Amino acid sequence: MAENASNPVIAAADLKKVFRDFWRRPKVRAVDGISFEVSRGEVFGLLGPNGSGKSTTIKMLLGLLFPTSGRLRVLGESPRHVKTRSRVGYLPEHSYIYPHLTSEETLDFYGRLFDLSRRERRRRMEQLLEMIGLQHARHRMVGEFSKGMARRIGLAQALINDPDVVVLDEPTSGLDPIGCRQVKDLILTLARRGKTVLMSSHLLADVEDVCDRIAILYNGKIQAMGPVRELLEEKGRSRITLPELSPEAMARVLELLRKEFGEEPELEHPRRDLEQFFLDVVEKARRGTQASPPKKEKLAGYLEGEDLLQKLAAPSTTETKREEPPPSAPPPAARTDARLSHLLQNGPDNE
Ligand SMILES: Nc1ncnc2c1ncn2[C@@H]1O[C@H](COP(=O)(O)OP(=O)(O)OP(=O)(O)O)[C@@H](O)[C@H]1O
Ligand SMILES: [Mg+2]
Repeated sequence: MAENASNPVIAAADLKKVFRDFWRRPKVRAVDGISFEVSRGEVFGLLGPNGSGKSTTIKMLLGLLFPTSGRLRVLGESPRHVKTRSRVGYLPEHSYIYPHLTSEETLDFYGRLFDLSRRERRRRMEQLLEMIGLQHARHRMVGEFSKGMARRIGLAQALINDPDVVVLDEPTSGLDPIGCRQVKDLILTLARRGKTVLMSSHLLADVEDVCDRIAILYNGKIQAMGPVRELLEEKGRSRITLPELSPEAMARVLELLRKEFGEEPELEHPRRDLEQFFLDVVEKARRGTQASPPKKEKLAGYLEGEDLLQKLAAPSTTETKREEPPPSAPPPAARTDARLSHLLQNGPDNE
């Protein structure tokens, strides 16, 4: 299958991986016949308990492990194809960083692996260090880094080759809520710029925030798959949000609902999510201490590419078919929509 804008960027069909013991006897069925596709610009989440086959699937996608059977295509080719590998960025579960290299040397090292010129390596390194907020630590050895700093440098390293496909194994693990928010916004911006993101995570709220579609693995098999919004929607129930009502008005509304539906409606005050509450509290504390505000999430310039949302909003007559996202790409989840509108209003374009 040649690469084509309407083809899925990642396509797995009846994919299996059996680990064998020393005598070649089957030991573990780590991945047991999974099939899924990911379209361009989509954020796809792999979930599942420990040992369910997420990392094994990811390693097969990267050509690091050979499937026992089934079919796997990344960008229309085998994941082991040299050209495919050069277009994929990978953040491993455990960042394999050389502890004695500084941030600059680490990014320079990975830039060399992709044959980038000295000038280009310099340019991308500057933009990436600014993007992950580690300019101040450019000469520090990465072995001294905190968990969150190591995760950030790992993310920069995964993006040094300006990949079309970004594979992130637990991207937000070890990050504080502010770092989590920045990484999630970064993932959404990358997807909006036409990159395809496949991520695994145990942090369900993060997955809900950024993924368009998810697959839940158990024992190497996909147990549920679909758009997050559809999977979580309780179709048989509706919720109405009202402004603060006087006790008399509330009694009248409840009476009306009781009469109409014959059952007692549930009444509760909507709650803010804990992440937003935490960010508000920290922001208030920061203002109190006059500390400098955290840098707003901004994508490294060379990663910008094209803006899929603006392209969709623009009349399509002047655009070629090839540049459009595939028609099969599902609409992003509602929360993703809200985050993207926020990004559209506040940056990175208008900053
Ligand atoms: N190299 C290997 N040799 C033998 N068995 C392996 C190997 N790698 C993984 N496995 C086994 O395959 C199964 C799936 O492991 P995998 O690492 O893919 O799980 P995971 O979903 O990523 O788990 P976690 O959430 O803990 O990261 C496990 O039973 C694991 O022990
Ligand atoms: Mg894993």
